[in-house]
Amino acid sequence: MPETTDKITEQWTSRGGFLLAAIGSAAGLGNIWRFSYVAGENGGASFLIIYLLCILLIGLPIVIAEISMGRNAQCDAVLAFRLANPRYPWHLTGGLAVAGCFFILGFYSVIAGWSLKYFFGALSGSLWDTDDYGDYFSEFISQPVESISWQLMMMTLTVGVVAGGIRKGIEAANRYLMPVLGIIVVVLAAYSLTLDGATKGLAFLFAPDWEAFTRPAVYIAAVGQAFFSLGIGMAIFLTYGAYLGHGHSIPGAAATIVAGDTLLALFAGLAIFPAVFSFGLNPAQGPELAFITLPGLFTLMPGGELIAILFFGLLVGAALTSMFSILEVPVAYFMRRFNLSRRTVTVSLGATIYAVGLPASLGYSIFKSINLGNRTILEIYDYAISNFLLPVGGIAMALFVGWGWGKSSALRASDFNNSVLGKFWLFCLRFIAPIFIGLAFFGASLSK
Ligand code: PHE
Repeated sequence: MPETTDKITEQWTSRGGFLLAAIGSAAGLGNIWRFSYVAGENGGASFLIIYLLCILLIGLPIVIAEISMGRNAQCDAVLAFRLANPRYPWHLTGGLAVAGCFFILGFYSVIAGWSLKYFFGALSGSLWDTDDYGDYFSEFISQPVESISWQLMMMTLTVGVVAGGIRKGIEAANRYLMPVLGIIVVVLAAYSLTLDGATKGLAFLFAPDWEAFTRPAVYIAAVGQAFFSLGIGMAIFLTYGAYLGHGHSIPGAAATIVAGDTLLALFAGLAIFPAVFSFGLNPAQGPELAFITLPGLFTLMPGGELIAILFFGLLVGAALTSMFSILEVPVAYFMRRFNLSRRTVTVSLGATIYAVGLPASLGYSIFKSINLGNRTILEIYDYAISNFLLPVGGIAMALFVGWGWGKSSALRASDFNNSVLGKFWLFCLRFIAPIFIGLAFFGASLSK
C-alpha cells in the first residue's frame, strides 16, 4: 500500500474542547487506582513531594514538547518525527509510541473492566453479597470468561467513541464525562474528610517521613507514577496536539493539563486515605487497594452504598477518557499509513489490542502459572510500562525536542520564542529530564 504523508484534517472545536480531552486523557486509573496504591506502598507524603517535583521538572516540559511537536506537524506520531528531522531515525520514537499503546491499552482495559464490574455490582447491590472482599475479588478474576467480558465491554465503548472522530466522538464524550468526574471526586473527598480520624489520612499524605527520602525505590516509584499519571512518552499529547489549531498558547495549555491531572490525583488521595485511616485499614495493600480494601470500607461507612456507586463510576469514567487517547495514537498512524477510514482502523485496532490485553486478564485463571518473581502477567505489564516503556519514550521525546529538533524550531513551535522560561524549558528537556529518568531507569533495572 502506498504510504501517504497527508496531514490530518480533523480539529477540536475549541481550545476548551482540547483541554478537556487532554485532561481526560491524563486523568485516569493512574490518578485513582494506581496513585493510591503506589503512594500507599511508598510512604505517602515523601513520595508525594518527589512525585510533584517530577511532574514539574520532567512531566510539564515533556507535555509542552509533545504538544508543540504535534501542533507543528499536524500529523501522527511517526510522521511528526520524520518531518521534524528526516536525517536521523527519530521516527522510531513515534513507532515505539504507536506499538507501546497496544500494550498500555491492552493492560489498561483489564483494570477498566474490573472497575465496570464493580460499578454495576454497586448499582445492582450484588457487590454487597459477601463479607470477604479478598475472596470476592479473587473469585471474580479467576473466572476467565467473566473478566474478559467486562474488558470487552470497555474496549467496545472506547472503539465506539473513537470511531466517531475527534469532534463528534472524543471531544463530545469528554465534554459530558469530565465535569461529572470533577464533581464526583470533590464530593468523595469532602465526604471522606468528615469521617472521624480523617486527620491521620491527611498526615499520611502531607506529613513527610524523612527516612523515605533515602530509599531509591521511592524515587523510582515517583518517576514511574509521574509518567503513568500524565501518560507521557507515548505521543498521546503529540497526537491530540495535532488536532489543535494555531493561535493558542501551548505552555499555558500544558500547565492547565498538568494542574488538572495533579489535582485529580490529590483529590482522589483525599477521598481514599482519610477514609482508609479512619477505619484503621492498611493503605499499603498493593494494586488491590481499590478492589479489596475500599469495597470493604464502603460497607462500614454511612451511605457507603452510594459512595461506592460514585467511586466506581468515577473509575470507569476516568478510565474511558484515557482509553480514547491511548487508542487514538495508533488510529491516527494507521489511518494515514494505510490510507484507511477511521472506522475500519478503529475497529481492527480495538480487536487487536483486546487480544494483546487478554493474557493480562487471563493471568489470574488460565495463565495463572506464568509469573515473574511474584508478579502476575498484569503486574508485569504495569511495571514494564511505567518503569521502562514510558521512561524510554519520555527520554527519547525530551532528547529529540531538546537536542535533535533544533533550538529555534523548538522554541518557535512551543510559543516560548526567546523567553527565559523557554530557555529553562529546554534546559529541563536537555539535562534534567534525561538524567533523572536515566537514574530512575537504572535504579529500576537494579532493583529487578
Ligand atoms: N494517564 C493515564 C492515567 O493516569 C494512563 C496512561 C498511561 C495513558 C500511559 C497513556 C499512557 O490513567
